[in-house]
Amino acid sequence: MLKYPITTIAIAFVYLLLACCSKKQAEEIKPDQPPTEKPGTNVSFASFVQPLLQTKCAGCHAPGRSAAAIWSFNGYTSVTANADRIKDAVLVKKSMPLGGTITASDLQSLQAWFDQGTLNN
Ligand code: HEC
Repeated sequence: MLKYPITTIAIAFVYLLLACCSKKQAEEIKPDQPPTEKPGTNVSFASFVQPLLQTKCAGCHAPGRSAAAIWSFNGYTSVTANADRIKDAVLVKKSMPLGGTITASDLQSLQAWFDQGTLNN
């Protein structure tokens, strides 16, 4: 009749069930595939940094403004020449924008632009 005793078949069945479930769980635990592109990568000065600093900083840091002597936002070179100070104030100490706010995603994009060597203008 049966080639294998019923217990063997039962054990095999339970084993298959467990193998099946644990595989499913492993798939559930597995984190989502990393996005092909990190958010905030490929940030350019013209499309992102310029408008951000214009909105968040130029009110005080532009020629003729109150904090112009400390740093004056006046285009690409005014940022690259002061990259370390700007990074320190905005990304490290988070003391700027003074009296204003900046979103986490904007900070991330700004960080990415600096990380890329401020070359993307
Ligand atoms: C409301 C006016 C105001 C705004 C807006 C503002 N700042 Fe400032 N910033 C100041 C003043 C005043 C100082 C000097 C006093 C201080 O450091 O707190 C300063 C100092 C700095 C310094 C010099 C810090 C150092 O330690 O050398 C940098 C760099 C700077 N700001 C960058 C920025 C950037 C970048 C933004 C926009 C994200 C910004 N600031 C927005 C007023 C402002």
